Amino acid sequence: MRTYLVTGGAGFIGSNFIHYMFNKYGDDIRIINVDKLTYAGNLENLKDIEDRKNYTFVRADITDAAAIEQIFMKNDIDVVVHFAAESHVDRSIRNPEVFVKTNVLGTLVMLNNAKASWEKADGTYPEGKKFLHVSTDEVYGSLEEDGGYFYETTPYAPHSPYSASKASSDMLVKSYMDTYKFPANITNCSNNYGPYQFPEKLIPLIINNALHGKKLPVYGDGKNVRDWLYVMDHAKAIDMVINEGKLFETYNVGGHNEKQNIEIIKIIIETLREMLPDSDPRKAAITEDLITYVEDRKGHDRRYAIAPDKIKSEIGWEPETMFKDGIKLTIKWYFEHEDWMKNVTSGDYMNYYSQMYSV
Ligand code: NAD
Ligand code: DAU
Repeated sequence: MRTYLVTGGAGFIGSNFIHYMFNKYGDDIRIINVDKLTYAGNLENLKDIEDRKNYTFVRADITDAAAIEQIFMKNDIDVVVHFAAESHVDRSIRNPEVFVKTNVLGTLVMLNNAKASWEKADGTYPEGKKFLHVSTDEVYGSLEEDGGYFYETTPYAPHSPYSASKASSDMLVKSYMDTYKFPANITNCSNNYGPYQFPEKLIPLIINNALHGKKLPVYGDGKNVRDWLYVMDHAKAIDMVINEGKLFETYNVGGHNEKQNIEIIKIIIETLREMLPDSDPRKAAITEDLITYVEDRKGHDRRYAIAPDKIKSEIGWEPETMFKDGIKLTIKWYFEHEDWMKNVTSGDYMNYYSQMYSV
């Protein structure tokens, strides 16, 4: 039975990945989820699986080398799936330090402990051990509006403290592969959307604000482009790279689904209006009049677009969920989980929101 150590499994993509894995493999795998439970980590995301006998949660900080060492000493870990990170660009612009600490130092701690636990006396590693480092397309910088894609060979050019910290963590993983032949893969994925996403990010923020008749903040001219991927398609890509990815390779993962931010907001308004019954009092207030242009994000990358050619040709992964379907699934999930949204938007979230937005 393979044992996965998932870091950051209480966050958005990590919790979706854990659901994906138990749905697919049932009792044939074991998952240990290590998470510090920052504002972004939420055990409610894993309520339905928390009692499984093949699931364990450990609350720990990935920068705490002693705590991570304990996990490796007590368990025979086969695969590390490393999600844990500070993930929000706007927060990184306000407070870069924690991004360097968690994303760079935390990754180093994970690498060191996996290496110490797996490396044999002759410097090789047992068959089947793998460190899957989950990264972002933002390490490649920004594309022109009228063309080009991010390939695995595109030079790194991060612009925000967040993307610089992720680029640094990627470089550390690459250095371990080059120096120690450490068995790893890196995946660089585009923007995810779906259930359990914290409402500081564009899509859940717009859904939540619209449902409360609040203004819908658009940075700058609203024409920045992101390449949106349904989160379960990302989970599937990670699983496939773990199983079929060639060691030491990087794979770009993307949705072939480029949209301007303003288009996304208009699609959400239209979809909410389609999905809400006429009898719902919130429906009348959800119109494009809520759209409010606000000050642009500092250093705002103009366009991201992934070329997922390598993962398609080498591994056979392709995005499966069309945006028009994925956004409905996502909105439906938020409709059905109003308490989840209430819980995560109480307390600190409101302080964050009022500091970030004056709308
Ligand atoms: P998230 O912010 O929703 O979740 C991050 C999780 O990591 C949380 O559960 C949090 O508690 C945990 N965490 C943070 N600091 C920690 C620490 N020091 N020790 C232990 N746990 C800690 O993030 P997400 O959107 O799910 O992103 C997960 C990963 O995927 C990140 O590495 C991110 O860079 C990458 N990624 C995200 C996207 C996206 O669109 N969201 C796209 C590509 C790549
Ligand atoms: O590309 C992958 C990255 O996608 C991940 O690595 C990051 O962890 C993830 O947060 C995401 O980064 P973005 O900065 O692209 O996502 P965000 O949802 O913050 O913003 C998406 C776009 O929407 C971006 O151009 C900024 C804009 N925006 C965002 C918010 C929160 C707005 O116009 N208004 C808003 O209120």
